[in-house]
Amino acid sequence: MDTQKRTLSGMRPTGPLHLGHYFGVLKNWVDLQEDCRAYFFVADWHALTTDFADTAVLRHNIGEMVRDWVGAGLDPEKCALFRQSAVKEHGELTLLLSMITPVSWLTRNPTYKEQQQQIVNKDLGNAGFLCYPVLMAADILMYKPFGVPVGEDQLPHLELTREIARRFNSFYGEVFPEPQALLTPAAKCPGLDGRKMSKSYGNGIFLSDAMTDIESKVRGMFTDQARMRRSDPGNPDVCNLFPYHVLLTDAATQADIRQGCVTASLGCVDCKKIFLDRLRVFLEPLQERRASLERRYGSVEDILEAGNEKASAFAGGTMDEVRGKMGL
Ligand code: TRP
Repeated sequence: MDTQKRTLSGMRPTGPLHLGHYFGVLKNWVDLQEDCRAYFFVADWHALTTDFADTAVLRHNIGEMVRDWVGAGLDPEKCALFRQSAVKEHGELTLLLSMITPVSWLTRNPTYKEQQQQIVNKDLGNAGFLCYPVLMAADILMYKPFGVPVGEDQLPHLELTREIARRFNSFYGEVFPEPQALLTPAAKCPGLDGRKMSKSYGNGIFLSDAMTDIESKVRGMFTDQARMRRSDPGNPDVCNLFPYHVLLTDAATQADIRQGCVTASLGCVDCKKIFLDRLRVFLEPLQERRASLERRYGSVEDILEAGNEKASAFAGGTMDEVRGKMGL
């Protein structure tokens, strides 16, 4: 553990986490908590940028997400698990960074334009949504991390964060190092129906799913859609299930499965059985840890309170420096 090195990342509490979250991001977080000082937070203010009108489920979602995190292997004793809205410095730094961020940087952000077009059932004309990346820059720069573990979709935001850091440093002097993106080597994790695994498509396998639910989900899962009969050879490279063997099984088993598929000696039903067994072995310890949260750490609130304190301690130092440099 290099205590001089820091990392930080966050997730919006929008619903239960699925396998895509685990292999795409969370696994990376779990590894990072061993290497350096790690800060992981619930981005509840970010959730409000789009879900501002109905906040009834926010608290529930926060609790469930922290449970998923602990289940996945994040250890509140090794890293800081905190809540964005509890560390008010994030708000102050957002305000200050908004002074130096040109509006044109925000309106030309590809994620902003894309989401404006794609999300049609909500009005995203609010200032908070436009300023989403400024809040994210504040979250990140606050902890001066060497790197930020995120999914690929977050890269435009991270680039903007670096631009804001450069602009700040050029006006007021060197305060913020430019953080690197820490991408997980492409983990392919398609949804049950072949589209991207997403809560809104209802095609996910969730970390907290009961095994019986998972069995029926897997039974209905798409495989190689060109393989109509059991006796037809299949193609693992277009199969929707095979990427999961890549994630969950050793190289030798993968090779056997591939061989069985292309020679039609292994059918999809049996292939799914292998997958289910592996999934069970993977999920059981995760769900056990999830269920033991109270016994080990008290409560979700206790975990977040301890994390808030650790985060505040660092954030306070950064803000003293920022205010000083800005003449406040
Ligand atoms: N935008 C991120 C997401 O949607 C969440 C997030 C907010 C974040 N602030 C962050 C991620 C800071 C990394 C660092 O997933």
